[in-house]
Amino acid sequence: MADKPHLGNGHGKANGNGRGKNGNGHATAMRLAGKVAIITGAGRGIGHATSLKFGHEGAKVVACDINADQAQQAAQDVIGAGGEALGCQIDVRDPASIARMVNSVIRKYGRIDCLVNNAGIVQDATLKNMSEAQFDDVIEINLKGVYNCTKAVVDIMLEQQSGVILNASSIVGLYGNFGQTNYAASKFGVIGMVKTWARELGRKGIRANAVCPGFVLTPILEKIPEKVLKALEERVPLGRLARPEEIANTFAFLASDEASYINGAVIEVSGGLTL
Ligand SMILES: NC(=O)c1ccc[n+]([C@@H]2O[C@H](COP(=O)([O-])OP(=O)(O)OC[C@H]3O[C@@H](n4cnc5c(N)ncnc54)[C@H](O)[C@@H]3O)[C@@H](O)[C@H]2O)c1
Repeated sequence: MADKPHLGNGHGKANGNGRGKNGNGHATAMRLAGKVAIITGAGRGIGHATSLKFGHEGAKVVACDINADQAQQAAQDVIGAGGEALGCQIDVRDPASIARMVNSVIRKYGRIDCLVNNAGIVQDATLKNMSEAQFDDVIEINLKGVYNCTKAVVDIMLEQQSGVILNASSIVGLYGNFGQTNYAASKFGVIGMVKTWARELGRKGIRANAVCPGFVLTPILEKIPEKVLKALEERVPLGRLARPEEIANTFAFLASDEASYINGAVIEVSGGLTL
């Protein structure tokens, strides 16, 4: 079984004035100060780490998950670390639940600066053994869910003439993987949508990018046998699997104004696994 993720990143607490302290006690600019960011799948794993990171960087975090308790807990964790957050239960398959969440965000914060489409599942089987239900479930959440959430915020971003849409793809969406016909199709599809949105929305001040993690120590890896994880680890030039915080850091950079010219990019964060 994969290690439980370590859910801290050692950064200074948000202090509400756009400045924080780094490990050396030097003042550092909070790169997401005042930005409103919706993060799906925030209940655990990469989404939880991303919520904490965005909170540390000064964002108002909307922590969304299908698991209501975990969404609320993620928001509490951001608040407990000195940030600002709202927890919302959504099912990315259900546009009505997404619309309710978007309405509460607009009522509370009046804008949406960033959407992180992170919620995702696996239902692995070889093509020979994969059922239609397994194929449909993964496409419905990992691909259609990304469409549903982005569709729900795009008019608001267009009206603002600004916004950032970030999407969790995977190295599996670039290269395929044994036993992951459905997952590879969904993650490849996410890259296609990102490139399309980068073209359609770029002139309107909206950037869209995809992040392709390698293997990250989160509960999604729970079903992978320990010895397969060990073998994977050995194939990574950095000699280890990723920590969720390392993907969260990439999302935070892409959400920030430091990434103002990055649009339509597909960024691999795999420790060099695919070399
Ligand atoms: N962990 C990895 O090795 C890895 C590698 C590449 C890409 N990714 C991608 O990164 C993203 C996050 O992965 P993770 O490892 O943190 O996964 P995880 O299983 O730890 O967390 C996923 C979260 O999404 C939520 N979720 C599931 N279905 C949902 C739905 N219908 N609506 C709303 N929320 C829902 C779950 O409740 C959970 O909290 C996924 O899109 C995954 O495919 C993960």
